[in-house]
Amino acid sequence: MSEIDHVRDFYDRTVEEEWLRLERNWLEFGVTKAFLNRFLPAKARILDSGSGPGRYALDLSAAGHSVDLRDLSHENIARAREEAGKRGLTLNTAQTGDARDLSDLSDAGYDAVLVLGPLYHLTSEEDRNRVISETIRVLKPGGLAAFAFISRFAAAHYQLKTDPAAIARRRGVIDEFLNERQHRLTPETDFFVDSHFVDPSEIALIFRDTGLAQRALFGAESMMAQSEWRLADLPDAERRQWLDFAVSVAETPAALYGSEHLVFIGEKSG
Ligand SMILES: C[S@@+](CC[C@H](N)C(=O)[O-])C[C@H]1O[C@@H](n2cnc3c(N)ncnc32)[C@H](O)[C@@H]1O
Repeated sequence: MSEIDHVRDFYDRTVEEEWLRLERNWLEFGVTKAFLNRFLPAKARILDSGSGPGRYALDLSAAGHSVDLRDLSHENIARAREEAGKRGLTLNTAQTGDARDLSDLSDAGYDAVLVLGPLYHLTSEEDRNRVISETIRVLKPGGLAAFAFISRFAAAHYQLKTDPAAIARRRGVIDEFLNERQHRLTPETDFFVDSHFVDPSEIALIFRDTGLAQRALFGAESMMAQSEWRLADLPDAERRQWLDFAVSVAETPAALYGSEHLVFIGEKSG
C-alpha cells in the first residue's frame, strides 16, 4: 500500500475518533479557532483542504463563511455532510480530493485555505512542497493560509498526557518522532499512521521564498499539551480562562515547544 493509501484507509477507519478528537483536544481546537478568527475577513470564501469530518468547516460555515471541504477520506467527507445536515448548515462543496493536486480549482479563488492535516502525513519534502504551492496558487493576493505541523516532541507530550506508566513500551516511538522525524504504520506499530514531524524552529524556514508572509506561528496546545485532557474536566468558566491564557502566550517559544500541534498562518503577497 502507498503512503497515501495508508492515510486514506486509516482515516476511513477512524472517522468516529476523528469527530470526537477536537472535543478532547479542546485547547488545540480553541486556540486555532481564536487565531483564525483574528485574521479571517467577514464572509470569506474558504477551502478546508484535509478537513477531516469538518469540525472547523462547520463552525466557519455557522459563522457565515462559504466553505469548500476536501479530504482524502470518503468516510470523513460523508460525516461532514451528515453533521452539516443535522445543524441545517450549507457547505458550499464537500468532496474527496488530494491536497497535492487542486488542479480543478482556478487560481486566486479563495480568501483563506486551511491545511490542518495534509502536511504532517506526507513524508516526502517534494510532496509537502506541492501542497504548499497548490495552496498558495488558489489563494487570492492578500489571502491567508493556515498550515498545521506535528512537533517532534509530540509523542512525548502525548504519552505524558495519556499513560506515562507505559514509557517502556512507548520509548521507541517517542525516540522515533524525536530523532527520525517520521513514523510509518506497520503491522508492529499501532501508534499512528505515516507521518512527518518538525522541530518548531524549522517552520518559518519552510515558507521562506514561497510568497507567504508570516502572520502567526503558534503552538496549538500552548505549552499545556500535557494538561489538556485534565483541564477538559474543569467547569466552563475556568476552561475559558485557561483558553484565554493559552491564546495570549501561544506564540512564545515555551508554547511552541510545549505543543503537539504547531500552526503557521501566512498571507499571500501581491
Ligand atoms: C488529523 S486529521 C485533521 C482533520 C482536521 N483538519 C482537523 O484539524 O481536525 C488529518 C486529515 O487530513 C487528511 N489528509 C491527509 N493527507 C491528505 C492529503 N494529501 N489530501 C487531503 N487530505 C489529506 C486525512 O484524511 C485526515 O482527515
